[in-house]
Amino acid sequence: MLKAHVTLDPAAVVAPVSRRLFGTFVEHMGRCVYTGIYEPGHPLADEDGFRTDVLALTRELGVTTVRYPGGNFVSGYRWEDGIGPREQRPRRRELAWHSIETNEIGIDEFARWAAKADVEIMYAVNLGTRGVQEALDVHEYCNQPAGTTLADLRRANGAERPYGIAMWCLGNELDGPWQLGHKNAAEYARLTAETARALRAAEPGLQLVACGSSGSTMPTFGSWESTVLEETYDLVDYISCHAYYEEYDGDLGSFLACANDMDHFIDSVVATADSVGARLRSRKKIQLSFDEWNVWYLSRFQGGPPPTEWQVAPRVIEDEYNVADAVVVGNLLIALLRHSDRVTAACQAQLVNVIAPIRTEPGGPAWRQTIFHPFARTAALARGDVLRTAVDGPSYETERYGTAATVDAVATHDPATGDLVLFAVNRDRAEPVELAVGLRAFGAGARPAGTWTLADDDLLATNTADSPDRVTLDTSGTVTVDGDTATVVLPPVSWTAVRFRKPS
Ligand code: AHR
Repeated sequence: MLKAHVTLDPAAVVAPVSRRLFGTFVEHMGRCVYTGIYEPGHPLADEDGFRTDVLALTRELGVTTVRYPGGNFVSGYRWEDGIGPREQRPRRRELAWHSIETNEIGIDEFARWAAKADVEIMYAVNLGTRGVQEALDVHEYCNQPAGTTLADLRRANGAERPYGIAMWCLGNELDGPWQLGHKNAAEYARLTAETARALRAAEPGLQLVACGSSGSTMPTFGSWESTVLEETYDLVDYISCHAYYEEYDGDLGSFLACANDMDHFIDSVVATADSVGARLRSRKKIQLSFDEWNVWYLSRFQGGPPPTEWQVAPRVIEDEYNVADAVVVGNLLIALLRHSDRVTAACQAQLVNVIAPIRTEPGGPAWRQTIFHPFARTAALARGDVLRTAVDGPSYETERYGTAATVDAVATHDPATGDLVLFAVNRDRAEPVELAVGLRAFGAGARPAGTWTLADDDLLATNTADSPDRVTLDTSGTVTVDGDTATVVLPPVSWTAVRFRKPS
């Protein structure tokens, strides 16, 4: 058995846990909206046509914030297509995903869904084919209380009270040549500065997100962030990051270590943003919104056949996740949490069907994919402050991401309840790890109060409509305590959360 050690100290605070780290993403893409969150004919649909099974799973997942309506979709979207009487709404060609958009769901319906799901909306405006005026218009429609044409139109459409959307994404992945209205950094920086200035004139307190690179392998990565922030530093609060990971060519060792890449990505964007701040002699710190992240078998998608016909809500990238994918998702959440001083918003992409923790069948069931479990548990347990968490233990070499620690971990401590939670992964493919947890700094009496482990002899096991609970969390794990050291055994390729409590 391998051995590792971690010492936890409530004084070693990185930052408070930002609840917005547990965001997700609903894009008008594939079956995320249509037959995902919305399916009026479904036996479990409510009076608005929303699937109540999906609403329940969304709440169980612990989602706090939902980015909407895209994604690549937003760069060709006319928001006003989705308001007013449904029968008058246009059907449009949707060019990002080559489908038909019926506009049955627009911002009014989505705001109703968000209220039912008890989530905050993070709204993305179209800076691909559109610009400042349309951003102002959708903001007026959503956030202006009353007494202007668009505010009163919202009221006439049934929403008396404004939506009060606080967080606005200024476009999506405009650095990508695939994006409708793709721009170079200088063009995007100018448009974003103009849009941000206009939105702030309308509502000064908004939190605005400028697009960073659509991935750290983009040729313009770094220079894009630098150019954009040079022009928008005082105008925006966040720069975005997007990253998707997958296992390449059976290289599980690298895949399990991909949180190293996320760490490096975050550190690079922080360094770039801070260097711009230094040049501008600003004391302000730009935050990171990691508003698209997940496991996505993108190489399979790129190799697929081109679409041949225009369809409403086609099946697009409905990846089926296995045990290893879930361990990686748990590890990516560990990486996000440990950067809580700078990453204060994040969205797993996406929520339903499209590379998603929740899957549905039209007219049929909804179920939890494997990746649902580490997300839901982390969202439920991570409260209070994130603690600096350094693990002493073995490491291994990876093809893609250099030397990787076998055990990666982070902890949170809630001073209000005294709860201490350790989140850890074992990336070793053969050996369990005995992890000793030093608790001396917590004083006498911190006792284990629950363990949750995701592991399986079959790393390829998945959950399906017929077998929706094949992979779940095991809560039977034991933690032994000797003095002020607790010991937990982490199975090979596993994700574990352990809660400690002081007796009241
Ligand atoms: O989440 C799927 C797609 O990935 C989004 O539409 C886009 O922003 C990203 O490239």
